Amino acid sequence: MQTDLRGRDLIGDLDFTKEEVETVLEVAWDLKRKRALGEPHAYLRDKVLAMLFFFSSTRTRGSFEAGIAQLGGHGAFIESRTTQISHGDTEKEMGEIFGRYFDGIAIRHVTWGTGNRYLNLVAEASRVPVLNMQCDIYHPFQCLADLMTIMEKKGRDLRRKKIVVSWAYAASYLKPISVPQSLILQMPRFGMDVVLAHPPEFKLMPEIMEQAQEQARKYGTGFEVVDSMEEGFKDADVVYAKSWGPLLTTNDPDEGKRIQDKYQSWITDAQKMALAKEDAIYMHPLPADRNIEVTDGVMDGPNSVVFDEAENRLHAQKAVMALTMR
Ligand code: CP
Repeated sequence: MQTDLRGRDLIGDLDFTKEEVETVLEVAWDLKRKRALGEPHAYLRDKVLAMLFFFSSTRTRGSFEAGIAQLGGHGAFIESRTTQISHGDTEKEMGEIFGRYFDGIAIRHVTWGTGNRYLNLVAEASRVPVLNMQCDIYHPFQCLADLMTIMEKKGRDLRRKKIVVSWAYAASYLKPISVPQSLILQMPRFGMDVVLAHPPEFKLMPEIMEQAQEQARKYGTGFEVVDSMEEGFKDADVVYAKSWGPLLTTNDPDEGKRIQDKYQSWITDAQKMALAKEDAIYMHPLPADRNIEVTDGVMDGPNSVVFDEAENRLHAQKAVMALTMR
């Protein structure tokens, strides 16, 4: 167990070593147990977390705000449009000033080509931890909750378990690529064989692919890319199918939508789930386009773990806050 996470940022999934992630999981399960038993766990009494949002949220806002309160602290919800950021407050100002007011700065900024840079610049100027509530490249807290959920359902030893991270069609908007990128980086470290399935226009960032392959080599796991949802689902233990935009192919939203609309058959339904193992779990970070991205039958069916997955956001985030903001 690693005990030296105080003051650390969590921006990219590999910022914490495997052992440090294991520590986070241990603490998360302890906090989950304490909450279930109603045992006090106010490890961050009088600490305040800034929660700066450049993009909407249901789960991330709710779980960070509830989590810091349950740890005895307070979360300040700040929407970027209500600040002076558009009138000149730079990343340096935000890091320097919020770093003096708060004990941690959590930021969601998913704008393509901008978000991750913003977080890193704030972190450079901040004296307190910067926590990534999702940027254009990574969604590390979602991924920690996903890993926790997979271990709860499939056991702590995930060697030779197959996860398919699949693109799925959505009609609502071009979603960030951060969730699949985080998954392919983190899961090989815990022994999972990763299959990434997507149509050709929905590639992930080349540098992330290289890092994911490097992790797979280091931990001796499989890493494969296929262009068929059906092929990806075959014999999977974990089906993680969600939409993301063709951001590496085009920056034009109209062109992106035209490309996306070619692949409306990429829906997770009972027929495709039948290709996976019988006890395969279905995962999605939510929100999902119901009956477009995934059928109600799968989402609300016996293999779905989406609500446990959403709950684990709370416990995983509390663990990281308790370890980094002490
Ligand atoms: N999964 C997730 O990050 O949900 P929100 O966008 O609602 O925060």
